Amino acid sequence: MEKVNVAIVGATGAVGTKILEKLVERNFPSKSIKLLASKRSAGSKIEAGGQIYIVEETTPESFDNIQIAFFSAGGTISERFVHEAVERGAVVVDNTSAFRMIDSIPLVVPEVNSHMLIDDAKIIANPNCSTIQLVTALQPLRQKYGLKRIVVSTYQAVSGAGSAAINELRQQSGQFENRSAIKAEILPTSSAQQHYPISFNAIPQIDTFHSSGYTLEELKMMNETKKIFADDRLSVVATCVRVPVVTGHSESVYIELETDGVTVNDIQTLLMQAPGVVLQDNPSKQLYPMPLFAEGKNDVFVGRIRKDPEVSYGFHLWIVSDNLQKGAALNSVQIAEHIVNGKQ
Ligand code: A2P
Repeated sequence: MEKVNVAIVGATGAVGTKILEKLVERNFPSKSIKLLASKRSAGSKIEAGGQIYIVEETTPESFDNIQIAFFSAGGTISERFVHEAVERGAVVVDNTSAFRMIDSIPLVVPEVNSHMLIDDAKIIANPNCSTIQLVTALQPLRQKYGLKRIVVSTYQAVSGAGSAAINELRQQSGQFENRSAIKAEILPTSSAQQHYPISFNAIPQIDTFHSSGYTLEELKMMNETKKIFADDRLSVVATCVRVPVVTGHSESVYIELETDGVTVNDIQTLLMQAPGVVLQDNPSKQLYPMPLFAEGKNDVFVGRIRKDPEVSYGFHLWIVSDNLQKGAALNSVQIAEHIVNGKQ
């Protein structure tokens, strides 16, 4: 396999640090790995796989002689530097929402649509974390039985909003214990007029509101799912909620299949063989997925599968995954592995 020079933009962040760990853990064929962040972090050191990496400030020249560049420093940074990286010869795997809905840019979850990784793609978008775990779990059902409707409610971890949100949850938990005033400055989103505590709370707002009344996070899930499944007729609606969990998104999902007569057992059997999916579904043993136990794992966990009492082709599922792993870093690295393999 041809070895490549790699850059990670946002390497000091919640996702960027995991991308580095994944590259090392999966023995990614890299000649060198360059860690990029803001000027504030230039010179700081990060250790991975027994090696010390020095963080550099991101500049256009950072991408000279880079073949694969991962971006996870927010949409504004991607808009500023992704084209610079491409012009200098890199293929970009972008973890922000900056390019996801552009028709000509593949939006890829390898278990679902790796065929979109065509040779001349220079920017590949990594979907939203909640979307990735949803489509990974539903793909086998869609392939075998057809899918006409998805209604999803999320219970999303604070790490999805970056390391500042993790710190905020930790600090607020301490403030609660010490009975001091709870300071809220980050969530629901840093640009919001009003901030609310996340400790001992649930916030039904992730990202800002669209004029339709949905949040941008909800619209991302709805639009990205249709794009990845290449199915405009699929009905998808989402309600996204932030909960005081550090890592691991959970989703309560209602689906309607195109096929009647499917049983819970059929779905369990199918998901047991599905790539990237682990079935955890045994109520008699209280076996079901939980974010605390998904942390650090690569898989998408599915349980609590039930037939709808009224709709014979309707089913309810509970889907959990580590939002920083399959939801972000792992999926990005899997995309890069496909690209590098294609260059053999
Ligand atoms: P830095 O640590 O130097 O601020 P998170 O998703 O956890 O909030 O992390 C955001 C990432 O984006 C961090 O690595 C952060 O680096 C990086 N970042 C923020 N601003 C810039 C910038 N102007 N140029 C490059 N990287 C940036």
